[in-house]
Amino acid sequence: MKTIDLSIKIGCCQMDELSAEEQVLVEKAIAATANSYSPYSRFSVGAALYLEDDTIVIGANQENAAYPSGLCAERSAVFAAQSQRPDQAIKTLAIAARNGGGLMKQPIVPCGACRQVILEMEDRYKRPVRILLYGTEGVYIINTIKDLLPLQFVGESMK
Ligand code: THU
Repeated sequence: MKTIDLSIKIGCCQMDELSAEEQVLVEKAIAATANSYSPYSRFSVGAALYLEDDTIVIGANQENAAYPSGLCAERSAVFAAQSQRPDQAIKTLAIAARNGGGLMKQPIVPCGACRQVILEMEDRYKRPVRILLYGTEGVYIINTIKDLLPLQFVGESMK
């Protein structure tokens, strides 16, 4: 039997090592945690993305008493962006989260469903989405969602 190596490398840096534009985006994601409606999990997630023309769109997780009816911050931002500006690819997506103790020390990563939605954006616009995952102790930098979803199912997979 052969094995396939799917190992990945991601960047890790401090906020001041990011470009000024990316620092702004991360700050927007942090601020967006305040727009979370999360009375059930008490876990507030914020997302902010740059469209190709540098417009910023934000999202925050929205929960519901019927739990599956809620939506993650990442998909809230991506779907809002696509609803308003379907002509624009997504360039960069920043994510931040806080619990009762404040902003998370370690970055959180997008859930599986959000990874799949971000993958669709890369496939739709034929460009990678750079992802900045904020933690107070450092920022993870991921250059394409394919690094978080190494085996991908896209429209082409059905042909
Ligand atoms: N959540 C997000 O918004 N993004 C993630 O990447 C992980 C989880 C939300 C969903 C739910 O409202 C809460 O966090 C707890 O899972």
